This record gives sequence, structure tokens and C-alpha cells, in this order.
Amino acid sequence: MVERQCESFQTQKQTTYIAMSKASLVITMSMVVMGTMVMAFPPNYGEALTKSILFYEGQRSGKLPPSQRMTWRKDSALRDGSDKHMDMVGGYYDAGDNVKFHFPMAFTTTMLAWSVVEFGDLMDSELKNALNAVRWGSDYFLKATKYSPEMIVAQVGDPVLDHDCWERPEDMDTARTTYFITQQKPGSEVSAEIAAALAASSIAFQKIDATYSKTLLDRAYKVFEFANKYRGSYNYSIGEAACPFYCDHNGYQDELIWAASWIYKASKSAYYWDFVKANIQSMGGNIVEFGWDSKYAGINVLVSQWVMADAYNANPFIPNANIFVCSLLPNAPIKSVSYTKGGLMYKPGEQSNIQHPTALSFLSIVYARYMHAAKKQVQCGNEAVDPSRLINLAKTQVDYILGNNPLGMSYMVGYGAKYPEKIHHRGSTMPSVEVYPKHIGCRDGDQYFKSAAPNINILTGALVGGPAQDDSFQDSRYNVGQSEPTTYLNAPFVGVLAYFNKPTIQF
Ligand SMILES: *[C@@H]1O[C@H](CO)[C@@H](O)[C@H](O)[C@H]1NC(C)=O
Repeated sequence: MVERQCESFQTQKQTTYIAMSKASLVITMSMVVMGTMVMAFPPNYGEALTKSILFYEGQRSGKLPPSQRMTWRKDSALRDGSDKHMDMVGGYYDAGDNVKFHFPMAFTTTMLAWSVVEFGDLMDSELKNALNAVRWGSDYFLKATKYSPEMIVAQVGDPVLDHDCWERPEDMDTARTTYFITQQKPGSEVSAEIAAALAASSIAFQKIDATYSKTLLDRAYKVFEFANKYRGSYNYSIGEAACPFYCDHNGYQDELIWAASWIYKASKSAYYWDFVKANIQSMGGNIVEFGWDSKYAGINVLVSQWVMADAYNANPFIPNANIFVCSLLPNAPIKSVSYTKGGLMYKPGEQSNIQHPTALSFLSIVYARYMHAAKKQVQCGNEAVDPSRLINLAKTQVDYILGNNPLGMSYMVGYGAKYPEKIHHRGSTMPSVEVYPKHIGCRDGDQYFKSAAPNINILTGALVGGPAQDDSFQDSRYNVGQSEPTTYLNAPFVGVLAYFNKPTIQF
């Protein structure tokens, strides 16, 4: 995320930081040589899958269950919601901070659920853990929407105060303000994304817990109605608490259609499909984008499952999904991403770049599977692209992330011989409360932030923002864009790893 915390010591350190970069270049070059020696290929996708899910236990807020496996984390934020006489205990901390931003948290939950819906069959013993990760989100969103259609909780935790401290979640003593949207002060993007998360989770639980699945779907209907009937952006309703952190840059039209698509997939109720068809043509924006803010490409790929063989309803979903997958090819005439020399998808000027290769690879694989089922190819300019081409493209991204890159390092914490060790993540830098039970106050954590030593606790499975455009990487807490993990980097990667652990299409 575009975090702004610890700005004071970021600026102070600016000079040292630049001066150091030359020295680190020398280290970097010797690492290339070392890297090629230690690289183990092909990657162990099964191990990476296990770890990518385990990461979510490190981000848990609230009362931890006895089954908690990432044991250096303990209960935290047990009074969340109390300022509004609500129970808002639970959910996920967004990133290296301790704020619960519901807009990206809902997208994370939608993508974890989609990973299960699409690839759960391939997960074997990890399915249970993946469902627990989904449920940690969906349980929380049931709390956040308990009073819909009167109000929906859109965020918990004052982000400015939180970001000014370097504190363990277990010690947190900054204001845990509960921010909410109402009919008069709406937030259609955040509420529609929550509706999508509830509907997608409802599908994930259909076979294993029908009662819970129905509870989620019933709530998704109500939340969608609220989002659609009382339209507006949470930018203005909860103001500085959400934006500049997670501004809704491209409007809420995409979230409304995305939510309706998910509710239709979950319920088969014609009302939602009619909504999608009636609104898709007027949806502005860029059809090749996909991430926590923009759902365009995701809508077309999701809907393509049921319209691919349906000439009457295929338009505009299939043509747009085709443009999207063509735009990913390195030689495409219309581009949605560029590539680093080492081969990683890259969007210049954005933080946490790894969110793009993970989300776009996820959609490529899903679309390849729908194409395969319908026995289709896509014509991209002069190239006839078949499903295996898209799978291969996704594989180059996964393999880069897991270590097949110029530095020979993995961008998943705790995976491979070399991985980021000084990640920008509060809890991970400080001793566990189990080891050091005394309170570490707001700025008392600075010593851990500034330490030259690796983080004390390993946030296993976390993907970080990843390398720069020249494939270089700075393993430094000061470099937020490269070294911070966030929940939505991992969520699509869970599905991608489940696929490569048991690929179903020859490539
Ligand atoms: C929300 O705020 C951002 C930043 O000011 C702006 O770019 C965006 O257009 C706003 N979104 C809406 C829906 O008004």
C-alpha cells in the first residue's frame, strides 16, 4: 500500500539511504553469481502454497484461536468497535501497519475466496487452511455489515496515528476509531466490494458449510442493495481516514458490477445478471486493469465462464477479456504492463509492484482454463494464443517471484535460500510478546526499525512489493514500496500456486 508512516525518520534517513546504494550495488552484483548457484528449480509450488496461506495468520487481528500456527503473534485489538458500541474484533491488518482498511481487505477476501472457488479442488490438505483464511475475512465482514442497511463499518484504526508509531499490534495504544458509512454518507466502492467478498466466500463454503454459505449470501444481497441504492464514494464520506491511503481513484461503478457478477454466480438470480448486462456498457475506465481499486479485467474474466459459449451474451465480456489477455503478452500492440529485463511484469510509478504480476497471472490462468473448457483460442494480432500460452506467461511470473530472477532471490519471506529479511512490517521487526512481554511504546519501536539486523520474527509466506524496474532490490525497511507486504499481494497468488502445484493444462 501507499503508506506514509514514519515519514519523519524516512526523511532524516534520505541521505544515508542514497549514499548506501552504491555500496549495495557491489553486493548485488556478487549476489547474481551466488544466486545462480543456490537457485533450486523448478520451484516447490506446494511449499510456496502452504506458506502463502500461512502468511494470513501473521496478519490476523483479534482473538487468536488455539489452532494459530504463526505463534509469535498473539491477541490484539480486542476492543475494536467499542467506540461505537460494536464488536469489530477480528479481520486483517492491511500490511506492515495495524490499520484495518476494509476496501482492500474486502478485495483480499474476494480473491482468497476466488482462489478457493477456482482452485480449491487442487489444494488437498491446504484447502482447510485456505478456507480458514477466507473465513477470517468473511466472519469479520458479517460484523461490519451487521447494521446494514443503516450503516456499514468501512475501516477501523486511525491511520495517521497508527503510521506515526512503530508498535506491535499486541501493544497498540493509538486511537482505534471506527469509521462508518451511512445512507447519507455512503461508500459504494467499499460496500460493493464487501458484497463481492461475501458472495464469493458464500460460493467457497457452499459444499462444506451450507448454513454459513447461505448466511453470507443473504448478507451479500443486503449489502449490495445498500451500495447500489445509496451511491457515493467513501473518499468523501470518511474523508482523510481512507484517502490518501486507499483513495477510490476510478469510481464505484466497477465494484457494483463486480459485486453483482459474484452474487449472480452464487445465486443464479436473474436480477443480478440483468444488472451486470444493463450497466457493463456504460462502465468507463480501463478494461485491462485489475487490482484493489479497479475490477474491470476481473469482471470480464469472471463473467466469461458463463458466456464464453453463448454468442448472444458474449459481448462485450469476451471481446474485452480477449483484449485484456492480449495486452499482457510482451509483444502486444496494446499493453497493460511492461516487463523488466529479467521478465517481471512492471507498472512504472506504482508502489508494491508485485500486486500486478500476481493478480494478472491469476486472471490469465483462470481465463486459460475457461478457454480450454470451451476449446477456444484468442487471436492477438497475428498470433493465435491458446490456453497453454497464457499458462506459460503466468509461470514466468511465478518463477521470477520464487527466485528465477537476476538476483536469484525469492520475494516470498521464508521461502528459498535467499529472501527479504528486513521487511517493513511492525510486528515482524520486534520480539514477540511471548519473549518480551513488557509494553513497547509508540516510538520505542524505532530502535527495531533502524536496526541493521534482520527482522526478529519471520512473517512466513509474505510477498513483498518486490524489485525495481531494473530488477534490483533493496532489502531495507526504509524502502516501503519494495519491502512491505500487504494482504492483497498474496491473495491471488494463493490460487496461482495451487494451480502450478497441480497443473491441469499441458504447457
Ligand atoms: C477519490 O479521491 C482521489 C484522490 O483525490 C481522486 O483521484 C478520485 O477521483 C476520487 N474518487 C472519486 C470517486 O471521486
